[in-house]
Amino acid sequence: MKTAQTSYDKNKIKFLILEGSHRISLDILKDAGYENIDYLPHALSEEELLNIIGDYHFIGGRSRTRFPAHVLAKATKLMGLGTYSVGTNQIDIQAAKKLGVPVFNAPFASTRSVAEYVIGASIMLMRGLIEKNAKAHRGEWQKTVKNAHELRGKKLGIIGYGNIGSQVGVMAELMGMDVIYYNPSEKLPLGNAKALPTMNEVLKTADIVTLHVPETTETKNMIGLPQLQLMKKGAHLINAARGSVVDIEALTQSLEEQHLAGAALDVYPTEPKSTDESFESSLKKFDNVLLSPHIGGSTLEAQVGIAKHVTNRLIQYCNTGNTKLSVNFPQVTLPPHPQKRRIIHIHRNEPGVLMAINQVFADQEVNISGQYLETDTDIGYVAVDIDAKIEKPNLRKALQDIPGTIKTRILF
Ligand code: NAI
Repeated sequence: MKTAQTSYDKNKIKFLILEGSHRISLDILKDAGYENIDYLPHALSEEELLNIIGDYHFIGGRSRTRFPAHVLAKATKLMGLGTYSVGTNQIDIQAAKKLGVPVFNAPFASTRSVAEYVIGASIMLMRGLIEKNAKAHRGEWQKTVKNAHELRGKKLGIIGYGNIGSQVGVMAELMGMDVIYYNPSEKLPLGNAKALPTMNEVLKTADIVTLHVPETTETKNMIGLPQLQLMKKGAHLINAARGSVVDIEALTQSLEEQHLAGAALDVYPTEPKSTDESFESSLKKFDNVLLSPHIGGSTLEAQVGIAKHVTNRLIQYCNTGNTKLSVNFPQVTLPPHPQKRRIIHIHRNEPGVLMAINQVFADQEVNISGQYLETDTDIGYVAVDIDAKIEKPNLRKALQDIPGTIKTRILF
């Protein structure tokens, strides 16, 4: 029996890669058989994106191209969206979900880069190198042992023991540090790291406190004057998480009072929007403060890792329907489907849809060889495998007509 072609060829699937994502993403797409790729080295304005978004099945962007709901609504062919970053706040991920578009980010590709930044900053802070460097640039020769310490045997306090925090902990132990951490939910301590029951206990005992929390209403200004005063005199603070987490005025006061011996900041409550804008901060006056321009995760290695991760997730979703690691979709890890045709049905999570799907297969006398379902509060995601030889030209239409259906797709 001839197999009817009811889905696009790979070369008809159109990819748009934006903002100069590492070109390895193009090689990966081509190796996977996708040739129809537009690659732009820059971000797109809303107007530019609105003009072309309807042409693409997959788009990979970074943080400067925004995907609000009204732009996504024009993306009638869009199947998947990738963001070559950790953060997804430039995309209305809920709106994308309701349109049946999973969003994939790169949650760990820059983890190691940030962790190395923190270890480097820790060494520089404990040795007083930041201050001595600033003074040497002005001709001051601070050849003194004052404020110069080894990391070995010191306590590193980690607030937020997630991907980055735990990686920092492992590396800090290798440098001979004792690691303590606070995380509101229970986390497996790696190595000899010790969880403390409150953030304040970490603040009180650590020689260096490093922050690795997400930006949430709870973490906004979580390090203010009371928290800084709890820290040991002569301790150091590192923030390579999000700028909103530290109250900069309070930190300025603590440094002026010489309570903290130094700080390293990579992120700020307001950051320049481009390299042309100048950077303003009340912390610029301190020699003992390392200020870096939000580059904790910016290494070539991280860029390659991000490009590989996100591109492979888009390809996996396109080829197999696998939604693993999507930030807005029910997570379904699907096996390969040789000799099978796989039908994807994305629907609003309403009673009776699954029954209606099964009814369509029963009505058309199609035997189901595998079925996978996952739901969240908004949508249901179903993958159904059937024998590839089965030819039912009306099957997809019947599934598409089920009330509550958002999208259907047939994979070969
Ligand atoms: P993650 O999600 O793996 O870990 C965050 C951890 O913080 C979780 O374990 C969570 O339970 C914990 N947490 C949440 N609320 C907390 C609270 N109130 N107190 C203490 N812990 C709390 O995130 P990941 O990948 O480790 O990233 C951490 C931060 O680093 C994020 O803000 C991220 O945006 C930022 N980041 C910064 C980069 C840079 O260039 N500077 C690059 C990459 C990430």
